[in-house]
Amino acid sequence: MTRYATLLGTGGYLPETVLTNEQISQTVETTDEWIMERTGIRERRIAGKHETASSMAEIASRQALEAAGLRPDELDLIIVGTGTPDRVFPSTACLLQHRLEITHCASFDVQAACSGFIFALSIADQYIRAGTARHVLVVGSEMNSRLVDWSDRSTCVLFGDGAGAVVLGVSDEPGLLSTHIHSDGQYQDLLYVPNPAASHPEEETASRYLKMQGNEVFKVAVNTLGRIVDETLEENGLEKADVDWLVPHQANIRIITATAKKLKMSMDQVVVTVERQGNTSSASIPLALNEAIRDGRIKRGQTVLMEAFGGGFAWGSALLRY
Ligand SMILES: CC(C)(COP(=O)(O)OP(=O)(O)OC[C@H]1O[C@@H](n2cnc3c(N)ncnc32)[C@H](O)[C@@H]1OP(=O)(O)O)[C@@H](O)C(=O)NCCC(=O)NCCS
Repeated sequence: MTRYATLLGTGGYLPETVLTNEQISQTVETTDEWIMERTGIRERRIAGKHETASSMAEIASRQALEAAGLRPDELDLIIVGTGTPDRVFPSTACLLQHRLEITHCASFDVQAACSGFIFALSIADQYIRAGTARHVLVVGSEMNSRLVDWSDRSTCVLFGDGAGAVVLGVSDEPGLLSTHIHSDGQYQDLLYVPNPAASHPEEETASRYLKMQGNEVFKVAVNTLGRIVDETLEENGLEKADVDWLVPHQANIRIITATAKKLKMSMDQVVVTVERQGNTSSASIPLALNEAIRDGRIKRGQTVLMEAFGGGFAWGSALLRY
């Protein structure tokens, strides 16, 4: 029997506090018009003091488990994509496992910046296809508000906090049709976050905040995402018209629109959350997927293309028959 990973349930969590462009424009020199025109973002959510990547992940995960009809102790594996772990170690996945009050399954994090969820999904897919795991929890959870320099207008307007989760099971029907992941470290200086914890004590740590050359990232992102769409369709012998839904990483509406255009898709077939959530890095795809499944847009049997791009650069895609 061919084994496929199948999507059993989804969940999502957004912190309560909304931060609008209007509010940001009172602290740095920017306007709602500039942010909307260049990014499509109107507001984002900001986590409370008491919250962490693992606490947000727990809420999204419990929701996904409930939708899947599974108890936490039925999980074989937990993989968390995050660039904002609670601690350098142990992994956020271990902390999440403890929050779920289970002790046996393996739990680890994947660091692939904004592509963390797609990389985690790809790993989960391999475990399920190999017959090594039956139930896998895959999470993207991000506390971006603590990574950005709130006095830097070129980055602080872009990001938000949140968590999304999916539970995968095994089936002889597809399922995840394929996943594709790639990296290229030559672009490491275009988008990165320094790690003060790993600096030599005598080394001057200029800043702990996220740094980005936005226009350079933009150009590479648009080209790379065009290529990954072709790669995914070719591998599955599918045409553009066979894709029912695009669930893209939500970094910038202009990048999303360019990918939809490449697929000749109308924006009605694209799940867009960036206006209300900003860029939630590895949480953005599972959050968007959860929203469109719960509101009934994505239906059983439909074909869903997910794609992401982020620091590294690291990028990837997953094609799902839901
Ligand atoms: C960040 C981004 C919105 C900036 O838009 P852009 O059109 O490339 O703008 P630039 O960076 O070239 O800056 C143009 C001008 O706007 C200014 N600017 C930057 N941020 C601004 C803000 N929030 N408000 C007003 N002006 C701003 C710059 O200082 C610059 O001014 P100058 O011409 O006087 O030097 C865009 O590059 C982008 O979205 N890049 C991709 C980022 C991304 O998705 N990263 C995550 C990948 S996962």
